[in-house]
Amino acid sequence: MEFNPFVIIPLVLVTGLLSGIAIGFFVAARTKAGRKSVVSIGASPVSGRGAFAVKKIRNGDIIERCPALEVTDRDIGGELLNYVFYGSTEAGRLVVMGNGMLFNHSSTPNVAYYREESTLGPELVLYALRDIRKGEELFYSYGDEWWSTRQ
Ligand SMILES: C[S@@+](CC[C@H](N)C(=O)[O-])C[C@H]1O[C@@H](n2cnc3c(N)ncnc32)[C@H](O)[C@@H]1O
Repeated sequence: MEFNPFVIIPLVLVTGLLSGIAIGFFVAARTKAGRKSVVSIGASPVSGRGAFAVKKIRNGDIIERCPALEVTDRDIGGELLNYVFYGSTEAGRLVVMGNGMLFNHSSTPNVAYYREESTLGPELVLYALRDIRKGEELFYSYGDEWWSTRQ
């Protein structure tokens, strides 16, 4: 078969372009930036705003990785006290961003969390403790100490 540059060159360019687009979609679907949140914030029957499952979440699934900022208790006062987590030291307090700050408490939670150190700083990783239906409110436990230090 004869080499025809007017056919081969456009064919190579189009194939390259289509491969690039396909890889872009694949990478976006697998990275944080391309992943849609499974959490929405809405009115809670328990208290003010709460976090709700946008779709079915399976037991063990990571719900959200929340960037966090560790500060000291001197930086936290007033109502903000009710929104922060304990930090890595006695006086440390963790300010959790994303939706992580707005989950309400339950003593039978469907969500738990752990702290992870990323190259960019601490993260609070929220994960499902059981299968969760679409529309269900998401709760973690604030712990006994949290309630015993408040009225
Ligand atoms: C981290 S905020 C949660 C979001 C809050 N509902 C809002 O609208 O901003 C913590 C506050 O929510 C309320 N809260 C959370 N869980 C609750 C519960 N199970 N019962 C009563 N109040 C709750 C308390 O007032 C608490 O100080």
